[in-house]
Amino acid sequence: MIMKKNSLNPVPSFFLFLSLMILFLEMGVAQSTTSTIPVNVGVVLDLATLDAKIDLSCINMALSDFYASYGDYKTRLVLNTRDSKKDVIGAAAAALDLIKNVEVQAILGPNTSMQANFVIDLGEKARVPIISFSATSPSLTSIRSSYFLRATQNDSAQVNAISAIVQAFGWREAVPIYIDNEYGEGIIPYLTDALQEVDARVPYRSVISPSATDDQIVEELYKLMTMQTRVFIVHMYRSLGTRLFTKAKEIGMMSEGYVWIMTDGLSVDFLSSPNHSVTDTIQGVLGIKPYVPRTKELEYFRARWKRQFLRDNPNKIDAELNIYGLLAYDATTALALAVEKAGTTNFGFQMANVSSNSSTDLATLGISLNGPNILRALSTTSFKGLTGDYLFVDGQLQSPAFQIVNVNGNAGRRIGFWTPTEGLVKTLNPRINKRKNSTSTSRVSTVIFPGDTNAVPKGWEIPTNEKKLKIGVPVKSGFSELVGVKKDPGSNTTTVTGFCIDVFDAVVKALPYALPYEYIPFANSDGEPAGTYNDLAYQVYLKNYDAVVGDITIVYNRSLYIDYTLPFTESGVSMIVPIADNSNKNAWVFMKPLTRDLWVTSFLFFVFIGFVVWVLEHRINDDFRGSASDQAGTSFWFSFSTMVFAQRNLPSLVNSTSTVVLASYTASLASLLTVEQLQPTVTDVRELIKKGEYVGYQKGSFVLGLLLDLGFDKSKLMVYSSAEECHHLFSKGSGNGGIAAAFDELAFIKLILSGYCSKYTMIDPKFKTGGFGFVFPKGSPLVPDISRAILNVTEGDETKQIEGAWFGKKSTCPESGSSISSNSLSLKSFWGLFLIAGLAALLALIIFVVMFVYRERNVLRSSDSTASIWSRIENFFRIFIQRDSTSSTFRQSDPNDRNGISLPIMCAPSPSAYSVDTEYPANRSSASYDSSPNREAPQEEVIDHENN
Ligand SMILES: *[C@@H]1O[C@H](CO)[C@@H](O)[C@H](O)[C@H]1NC(C)=O
Ligand SMILES: *[C@@H]1O[C@H](CO)[C@@H](O)[C@H](O)[C@H]1NC(C)=O
Ligand SMILES: *[C@@H]1O[C@H](CO)[C@@H](O)[C@H](O)[C@H]1NC(C)=O
Ligand SMILES: *[C@@H]1O[C@H](CO)[C@@H](O)[C@H](O)[C@H]1NC(C)=O
Ligand SMILES: *[C@@H]1O[C@H](CO)[C@@H](O)[C@H](O)[C@H]1NC(C)=O
Repeated sequence: MIMKKNSLNPVPSFFLFLSLMILFLEMGVAQSTTSTIPVNVGVVLDLATLDAKIDLSCINMALSDFYASYGDYKTRLVLNTRDSKKDVIGAAAAALDLIKNVEVQAILGPNTSMQANFVIDLGEKARVPIISFSATSPSLTSIRSSYFLRATQNDSAQVNAISAIVQAFGWREAVPIYIDNEYGEGIIPYLTDALQEVDARVPYRSVISPSATDDQIVEELYKLMTMQTRVFIVHMYRSLGTRLFTKAKEIGMMSEGYVWIMTDGLSVDFLSSPNHSVTDTIQGVLGIKPYVPRTKELEYFRARWKRQFLRDNPNKIDAELNIYGLLAYDATTALALAVEKAGTTNFGFQMANVSSNSSTDLATLGISLNGPNILRALSTTSFKGLTGDYLFVDGQLQSPAFQIVNVNGNAGRRIGFWTPTEGLVKTLNPRINKRKNSTSTSRVSTVIFPGDTNAVPKGWEIPTNEKKLKIGVPVKSGFSELVGVKKDPGSNTTTVTGFCIDVFDAVVKALPYALPYEYIPFANSDGEPAGTYNDLAYQVYLKNYDAVVGDITIVYNRSLYIDYTLPFTESGVSMIVPIADNSNKNAWVFMKPLTRDLWVTSFLFFVFIGFVVWVLEHRINDDFRGSASDQAGTSFWFSFSTMVFAQRNLPSLVNSTSTVVLASYTASLASLLTVEQLQPTVTDVRELIKKGEYVGYQKGSFVLGLLLDLGFDKSKLMVYSSAEECHHLFSKGSGNGGIAAAFDELAFIKLILSGYCSKYTMIDPKFKTGGFGFVFPKGSPLVPDISRAILNVTEGDETKQIEGAWFGKKSTCPESGSSISSNSLSLKSFWGLFLIAGLAALLALIIFVVMFVYRERNVLRSSDSTASIWSRIENFFRIFIQRDSTSSTFRQSDPNDRNGISLPIMCAPSPSAYSVDTEYPANRSSASYDSSPNREAPQEEVIDHENN
């Protein structure tokens, strides 16, 4: 029965059906008249098995279906069935018999990859195509055999599906358990590569002999149990697989925490006709199965097959059609098509040279004359079979989708699919899948794992028997806030405390699973440190500890033989130096609050204001009279006093400018003086090296190497092992057996500063380092989990609380170090004020000059036309310099009142100011400049000029 590729609509298909019926009837008539050519083909199967019976019935049905549809075909396949007797020699003998004695045109089978291995060679030699629908080992194609056609998937097609599952559940290790033969080994290189691609390690491969006894299987399983990996991929035949799972269940390996994945061979064997006693042992196991889309044709065939099979084998009620039966059906169809296509020219064999007096069958094997034609026809045959589109590419069928099943009850529950293009998906509906993530477990349905749990096992276990991580902790005399080991001599118990320990405890608590552990101080029998930090880290490499927790800095050297987690502290090495009072070292500190620009601008402004004051006042104010130097002195004194001393009764712009500048100056100077007093003694590393100062570092710290790299002389380096010792060295002073600076990790510096925050400060040049990290063996699956938990803990409030508990005192310290910066006031902060005040003064000046020139225009436009321009200008300036006798100020103001002088000046030019400044009678004098009609003494004005 052939399903044509074009799908059938109900109405046309009815007519198609009718016409086909007519066609069949005609063919039936024709058939009886034209003779058909029988073509011998061989079938090699392990006939004693139920599977062989199923496959054979499928092959027979395929033939009867095919020739029912294509009655006009000239060829008719004739089956010659041989028993391979479940072994390689049996298959070889069967094939040899078929080729030599029956002269078959092609062979369907054999069953296993081992059997196929030799039969393929025979086929190659005799040019007889071998079509196996169950030999799946990928290694079979590497034997360059063009006459082998694999009418099924090779095993390597499913490895990406397996690795996708491993990745989706986040397992990082997996152990393949496989049968020790061609079938078992064939998949391993491909499986290992695929797992590697998703960063899963294969720490061990478990090979089980096909003839292994139960005891050997149990022994191997116990070995796996003591290892840490808990993800097993099982690839073997049913008989061995049944024993393996039975034993695994017996010793408790089918329980919570274990993950078992079956390859497709085993899944099909176990699940196509489930046996309660088997499925009971493999509850929760995952399996890969080829996916055959459920079609109407398939369901129809299944029903027909069941009826037919029961008629032939009435006692096999349990038998279920499986994927191999479908593949056998399609392979038979393909062969029938190909034989017809290849033509009927010559079905004979060319005999080998019989004269060679060789007595074995193998040496006298003939060569099929039609073999190449059939092979060519097979590789171009394409149709829609029961298993989908059927086409050989490079001698194999193309990979379809796989389905992932989870054994629950007496069946495999489908939890998802895997396709080469989409990867792992919950359904094959592309619209739904587009929204899903490829790595997330949401791509498959909930899995019930062994132990009847849907909690995803983490895939590994602590291998030791009591299952407690042995965690080494450093023993040291100082800095016990980070790690402190205390031994209670009475009860002979040690307690380990400190910041690092608390962080680790919090991190383990944040892990999604329980992780029992115990701390073991790295000390020798008398409680002294048993070695340096490098030695301690090396213990992990030597497998004496499972991890190390403590103030261990992440440095490159150690990372060569151990793995670090992410750092859990701020990282870097910095310098601390004492703070010294040097307030009296600089006599010019008062200059500092203002920048040079601001000083210069202020000075220029001061001169400018003095000049404007003089211009406006000198003619009408007695205080501005006198010799030139007196006038200059008065002007500048006035200007100075306006800027420096706040003038309560002078609400002028100049005054407010000066007030603001002055106030800022005072504040800035005050803070500068405070800072100046608490300045660090050194701020530059190079300065230390140049002066040959002694510097300190912590005993056993890698900082030593860093200091030597920086260029410090070894003789200038001193060690301390606690904050107290460090302080002691500082108090002695460099050159007197002490130090001028100390270098350390930020965490230690925080500790030292927390004890002596008023005495020392941290200077900023920070040398980048890795910070503190926990140490694990190389490749430990714990590292990514712990690192993620560290991020979880450090991003939350928890570390702050732990830090507060251990470095609590620090919070009472003012923020020290690094913040020393220039806080001088610059011109930028004031230019606006300067601009406004300057513009006001300039405006006053301009108005004054304009009015003055207007009033004295007579002098310039003198009637005495003979006077030279120069003499007129000279005259004009003389008037300008002279006092203005008409001004009322002279009459009213008290010459001794210095404050008085300033009153009219800034206000005079602005007409709008008159109404505001009513307080000052002098305002009236300004009115004289006004050209308004009600000015007081127009007469005197003229007289005055002439008097002078
Ligand atoms: C193929 O071999 C396997 C393993 O020996 C066996 O379980 C299966 O029944 C055999 N199938 C056929 C069709 O011979
Ligand atoms: C196995 O099958 C896959 C998919 O059909 C194919 O890509 C691969 O080349 C095959 N491997 C071997 C060794 O034939
Ligand atoms: C089921 O499997 C068990 C153990 O392999 C076997 O003894 C039993 O005969 C099987 N039952 C059927 C119905 O095949
Ligand atoms: C895919 O996963 C990432 C990280 O797990 C997540 O941020 C993103 O939103 C996911 N995308 C979809 C479509 O679910
Ligand atoms: C304390 O423990 C050490 C090592 O475990 C042991 O050698 C010593 O005898 C113990 N001392 C007491 C008093 O139990």
